[in-house]
Amino acid sequence: MKNLKIISDEKIREITGSFNLPIYVYDEKTLLESAKKVINFPNAYGLTPRYAIKALSTAVILKLFNEHGLHFDASSGYEIERAIRIGIAPEKIQLTSQKLPNNLEEFVKKGVIFNATSLFQLESYGKLFPDKNISIRINPGMGSGHVKRVNVGGPSSSFGIWKDDIPQAKQIAKKYNLKINKLHTHIGSGTNPNIWKKVAKLSLNTVKLFPDVHTLNLGGGFKIAHSDHEKTTDIQNTGNVIKDIFISFYKETGRRIKLEIEPGNYLVTKSGILITKIIDKNYTGKDGYNFIKINSGITEITRPAMYGSIHSMYIIKNNENKNKETEDTLVVGHCCESGDILTPEINDPEELEPVKLKKSEIGDHLVIENIGGYCSSMSFSNYNSFPQAGELLLKVDGNLKVIRKRQTMEQIIQNEIIS
Ligand SMILES: Cc1ncc(COP(=O)(O)O)c(C=O)c1O
Repeated sequence: MKNLKIISDEKIREITGSFNLPIYVYDEKTLLESAKKVINFPNAYGLTPRYAIKALSTAVILKLFNEHGLHFDASSGYEIERAIRIGIAPEKIQLTSQKLPNNLEEFVKKGVIFNATSLFQLESYGKLFPDKNISIRINPGMGSGHVKRVNVGGPSSSFGIWKDDIPQAKQIAKKYNLKINKLHTHIGSGTNPNIWKKVAKLSLNTVKLFPDVHTLNLGGGFKIAHSDHEKTTDIQNTGNVIKDIFISFYKETGRRIKLEIEPGNYLVTKSGILITKIIDKNYTGKDGYNFIKINSGITEITRPAMYGSIHSMYIIKNNENKNKETEDTLVVGHCCESGDILTPEINDPEELEPVKLKKSEIGDHLVIENIGGYCSSMSFSNYNSFPQAGELLLKVDGNLKVIRKRQTMEQIIQNEIIS
């Protein structure tokens, strides 16, 4: 398994000696490099690059991206609130959510942009804000994703107004005198520029049905490899393919459509590692497996158990010696749950697939890579009453900054009422 090693072993040893584990660490330099690539995404007639907050919602990360010029995609009212509290301008936030926030009216009055993802949402917005502009999310009838659980388009996905319901959407817009001026499609298109080409074409065809639309948001879904089983999107190449389609659309229709994109994974995934400690070992015989147990698992990283995703990982030994011996290893988490595994068969969380790791002992450390996206923000926090792990930022100047403290026992139980 190839490792990125974006943070040096020496720095990791410094961290294991000074902080409680497990701990997430994000590399600022990598975050800034990714932000620059997204901000410079090729485009024909203008670009609004957004960051999908859901991927990693910690305040310092949002602040960093805000200061470097990114706008934001929020997937709930709570994400909006988090962003506004740290000083992000409401006008820089677009809401694309499954659930309408109870205080939608207040957010929109502050300047938050609303993207209706269903006919019901469109109607609800119309009642609150007749005669205003609106963005709508369309499910163009095509999906992409390595497993069903990450597929966000096509007939098996509930996200967005179904393509055949566009006449109803127009009727609702007419009823409330809403002007549909932005369209949105997010299907998680991945690494293949041809799929992006198809999605851009399909979406621009839908733009033809809406004469007032000036902006098309193609969502996120620019894939980052979590291990050598996957490929990272070449976003420059993908961007150029999309740009050409927008230019062709202009030539055909005379309409210069502005582009929006809103990656999550692409901006944060590569930047993060999770440092854990090996707390136990087990061997289930010659027909079984060689297990190592770590002091982490679905409480910090659910992706392997949920999607069967493989993250590259490596051992850092306490007593490094010349012995380079490796062994086939199954890595399991610390929860009393047979699904708490970190080495599933690729794309199949039901099956196990040992990985080759350096031979390790209890007390050595296991570093899991590519955990910046959908790990800290998407974990089974507090299951088995384990506290939420802390988070560190490795600054460009080499200093470590605590950006989230490890949770205390008092915080875990603070809302419980005993009598
Ligand atoms: C509406 C929307 N935009 C953007 C994203 C970000 O996707 P990714 O992290 O794959 O780039 C998501 C993720 O689910 C999403 O639902």
